[in-house]
Amino acid sequence: MKGIILSGGSGTRLRPLTAMTSKQLLPVYNRPMIYYPLNTLLKAGIKDILIIIAPEHAGNYLNLLGSGKEFDARFTYEIQDEPKGLAEAFIIGESFLDNENVTMILGDNIFADDFSEEIKNFEKGGRVFAKKVPDPERFGVVEFDNDMKAVSIVEKPKNPKSNYAIPGLYIFDGRVSEFAKSVEPSARGEIEITEIQQKYLDRGELDVRTFENEWIDAGTFESLHEASILVKNKLDEKMII
Ligand code: DAU
Repeated sequence: MKGIILSGGSGTRLRPLTAMTSKQLLPVYNRPMIYYPLNTLLKAGIKDILIIIAPEHAGNYLNLLGSGKEFDARFTYEIQDEPKGLAEAFIIGESFLDNENVTMILGDNIFADDFSEEIKNFEKGGRVFAKKVPDPERFGVVEFDNDMKAVSIVEKPKNPKSNYAIPGLYIFDGRVSEFAKSVEPSARGEIEITEIQQKYLDRGELDVRTFENEWIDAGTFESLHEASILVKNKLDEKMII
């Protein structure tokens, strides 16, 4: 299993904090934000990790994380020139992945849960997670049938068919780069990660698992603040880095 941390984008919603550094390097309580998704991968035993970053602040990532030796891991870096969509990570990372299974996590997603078992026992297909939220229209949303079997995945639907959002933690098998290359850009000009999930779902190979503990997408002032509180009260003691 290889790992990708997608840590690009322009962080416009957090200006002026992001004027001189990347959103995912901002402090969340006592660590840079990216430490939390990195911790999720390292805890699951993933040692070979591709970090995808925007050109502007690439030097800061190297200064902070380096080769990965300090974490007993190996880091590879790639630049995403423009934020063309989450699924582009699997195209940028195609040679790094070399058809192996991958867990991708977004550099601004912080989870209270430990997903190590779900990552370690993954074999093939796709596996994503779903959590009930009050504002599903802001996320990728999964529709379930009466037996809680997933039937559709839609990006930011105006009229969500459920309250279950899919957070930024995705496990896919070696076909994911090929699938990503066949996705057309959406109306907002992005290669959507939901399209990849739909491809696995269409083949009956998407495993969607619900969870209940905290998940924070730390991309707004409000959620950045909440994330620090979560770390202070709950996550800090469970961190391995
Ligand atoms: O947070 C979970 C949600 O993340 C999912 O439910 C959605 O399905 C997924 O599309 C995504 O939605 P967002 O609206 O949160 O995506 P956003 O554009 O904010 O990007 C998420 C992070 O990924 C952000 O920290 C910046 C980074 N990013 C984004 C894009 C589009 C990149 O590094 N490259 C990109 O091309």
